[in-house]
Amino acid sequence: MSGNKTFTMIKPTAYKNKCTGTIIQKIYDGGFHIAAMKITKLSKEDAQKFYEVHAGRPFYNDLVESMTAGPIIAAILEKENAVEDYRKLIGATNPAEAAEGTIRKMCGTSIGENAVHGSDSEQNAEIESNFFFPGRERF
Ligand code: GTP
Ligand code: MG
Repeated sequence: MSGNKTFTMIKPTAYKNKCTGTIIQKIYDGGFHIAAMKITKLSKEDAQKFYEVHAGRPFYNDLVESMTAGPIIAAILEKENAVEDYRKLIGATNPAEAAEGTIRKMCGTSIGENAVHGSDSEQNAEIESNFFFPGRERF
């Protein structure tokens, strides 16, 4: 099935703030299957590569620093229309602008500390999933 997968990360601050349980519950309540999940930590090179598209933006260095500040939880989520539906579930990039009940509204504290990443396209969902998970870690 095409369009059935997205990739997410629970960012270091949300993990540290013990928001993981809330986020996983929202993911299940949103109708997603968790096909893969692990705690890991991004190296500086990993974070620079992951957010390469933002290289040169004023917030890039802060973003890389914040994404490498501690462990993250990486996951592959499945459902029909996964990319778009998960972006809806997480809410706007800035938690202050995110709709009530969204993950970023509930767990984010600022635009730089917005709790989760969500893939922005099917192509990137594929690339990001492959970056973190070999086939034997997917169920
Ligand atoms: P991701 O799911 O993390 O990719 O967020 P997004 O797609 O909603 O936003 P985008 O890809 O444009 O930006 C990537 C990340 O950079 C965001 O999640 C923010 O944490 C951070 N970011 C984006 N814009 C700003 C900004 O203006 N200021 C700061 N400090 N951080 C920003
Ligand atoms: Mg993005």
